[in-house]
Amino acid sequence: EFHKHPREIAWSFNGPLGKYDKQQLQRGFQVYTEVCSACHSLKQVAFRDLEALGYSPAEIKAIAKARQVPDVDPKTGEMSTRPGIPADHFPLVYPNDVAARAANNNAIPPDLSLVAKSRHGGADYIHSLLTGFTSQQGYKNEDGKELLKEFPDAKTPEGLHFNPYFANLNLAMAPPLTAEGQVSYGEGQPKPTVDQMAQDVSAFLTWAAEPKMEARKSTGIAVVFFLLIATVLAWMSYQNIWSTKE
Ligand code: HEM
Repeated sequence: EFHKHPREIAWSFNGPLGKYDKQQLQRGFQVYTEVCSACHSLKQVAFRDLEALGYSPAEIKAIAKARQVPDVDPKTGEMSTRPGIPADHFPLVYPNDVAARAANNNAIPPDLSLVAKSRHGGADYIHSLLTGFTSQQGYKNEDGKELLKEFPDAKTPEGLHFNPYFANLNLAMAPPLTAEGQVSYGEGQPKPTVDQMAQDVSAFLTWAAEPKMEARKSTGIAVVFFLLIATVLAWMSYQNIWSTKE
């Protein structure tokens, strides 16, 4: 076992009463837009879904318009692109897997729409992965065993990057977040340290994978509350029906 378990972060959306922090989601969307979207698509998300992050309809129109989406002429079948509208989904980054591999050292950057759900550890994993790139030289696992002493042949191949949070340790993605201030946040926002940007984009991707989380959780609370009352009522009617008093 040489890979590491993700570090646990106290996310605002943890627990049965957890809620997304819209400011954080907006910052995370900014990180996605300025950094990750160069390689990763977000095809399950429509621009209008971003209303949940607190953007106004005008802002969403502008966000959509700034991106080119595929278009087909209904008469000729000719393919082209046009500026997006709120109902469009985020466009693909590469037309197909061959193009994706050609641009990424033979690896395909996965679509990030559901990655927070499909990878074990969710937001904790994404955050740890983004901040976990390290030197393979001298790397020791959680039991203090040194990787290259145990497995001298495990040297990271040319073009891959060592990251102990990635299950097979060597990843085709170079560290995407490398410098403080890589993205500049607006007034009143936290300092864009690498860790902060990584947390923000992880929160954003959690929202993308589960936009209805808050409704699910509050329904759950209502259900538990209802069941409690139903239990008390059932107990009281049991007492009443089986009462030995005249
Ligand atoms: C893989 C996130 C930026 C290229 C991944 C994975 C995640 C991720 C979660 C999946 C790891 C897994 O399979 O468990 C991000 C985020 C980014 C970002 C949040 C922005 C902060 C980039 C950029 C590039 C890139 C800018 C291209 C220059 C890749 C590639 C893989 C990958 C090629 C596949 C790696 C492999 O399977 O070995 N990324 N990424 N990523 N990413 Fe990124």
